Amino acid sequence: MNYKNTADFAVELDARDKLKNYRKEFHIPLQKNGEEHIYMCGNSLGLQPKRTKGYLRQELEDWATFGVEGHFNAKNPWMSYHEFLTESYSKIVGAKSSEVVAMNTLTVNLHLMMVTFYRPTEKRYKIIIEGDAFPSDIYAVESQIKNHGFNSETSLIKLTPRDGEVAIRTEDIAQIIERDGDEIALILLGGVNYYTGQVFDFEKITKLGQEKEIKVGFDLAHAAGNIKLELHKWGVDFAVWCSYKYLNSGPGSVAAAFVHEKHHHSNLPRFAGWWGHNKEDRFKMPDDFAPINTAEGWQLSNPPILSLAAIRASLSIFDEVGMDKLVLKSKELTNYSVFLLSTIKSDRISIITPEERGCQLSIRVKNGNKNLFDIITEKGVIADWREPDVIRIAPVPLYNSFEDVFKFYAILKEVL
Ligand SMILES: Cc1ncc(COP(=O)(O)O)c(C=O)c1O
Repeated sequence: MNYKNTADFAVELDARDKLKNYRKEFHIPLQKNGEEHIYMCGNSLGLQPKRTKGYLRQELEDWATFGVEGHFNAKNPWMSYHEFLTESYSKIVGAKSSEVVAMNTLTVNLHLMMVTFYRPTEKRYKIIIEGDAFPSDIYAVESQIKNHGFNSETSLIKLTPRDGEVAIRTEDIAQIIERDGDEIALILLGGVNYYTGQVFDFEKITKLGQEKEIKVGFDLAHAAGNIKLELHKWGVDFAVWCSYKYLNSGPGSVAAAFVHEKHHHSNLPRFAGWWGHNKEDRFKMPDDFAPINTAEGWQLSNPPILSLAAIRASLSIFDEVGMDKLVLKSKELTNYSVFLLSTIKSDRISIITPEERGCQLSIRVKNGNKNLFDIITEKGVIADWREPDVIRIAPVPLYNSFEDVFKFYAILKEVL
């Protein structure tokens, strides 16, 4: 498409947008002057769907009405409430419904998955991770390595881009797998890197790893609800994600996990809790743990229903729209943003996100000058700053408009 950097053109794009009405489904935070913020921060915390309140109210009312009997008598019985999310999640990550489960929080799920899938031996004990992975993931893998009695300095292979490049090349990952494959127990990558916004080649990396008998898992914090995923088809061993970014389910809301069906009947070890036990006799309180033979078998506790209700509200929007249409608009919005930013003639900013991307764009600011970020914030933009030198923006297809993208560009241009 021949883009133009004018406000009128942005309005025209909005008029043509088939998903434009979904913006009205969200609360857009207001500035002090009463105008809407230019909210570009769905990669950090997604906005609240207006329907969320109704879903929460229902559970609060049922709790007031039924007390403990709400587990069975609530309009949406709490006993199996997490199952309401399964179908929607399976569509979002490209899985069978038996392969996904909403539970815990992301880092907890990452640990639970590593208990099962990181089984180091004297010979095979290393983990591959991005050098600039989200720090929590690095802490998690290092603590797992140490917990197994290995040295985290010699056991962690941190992927870095080539000199002068920002993205990590698949061919470089392939080379490491080829060279050290027999010593590697696990590959854990962010499906979308939190800092650069790079999307990894899930299918290829999974195949390369598994050919060397390496387990392959992904942290989808920045991928779920953002890019098209086919976890089952790609044969990924496991994945974890949170629900508060692109999945708009509220701060700290319950996370989720994917376990490929090939592992459901395996005798891989796991940490256990009663909610992962066979549903038929869970309440007979047997002494021996017998896991549910689906991803649900990795659950520990009965889940927080109020949080699940918020997720359910949000996923109902994803059900209506579908990932295909969402990704289509996402590409248009992001391409338009890239076009607009490319028309700013300034060497103070550069986009470091490669073409393999979702909706996030990482804008590197020369000399890490955070002042620029502070000024655009004052002017009504909500984005985020990641040390040492990046402003991350995410034009989110469900609630951001082409006009938002244009306003962001106009403010940035003016400030520069
Ligand atoms: C890529 C990534 N991994 C892990 C986390 C940690 O998530 P949580 O605090 O929900 O465990 C985050 C949080 O933003 C993240 O962006």
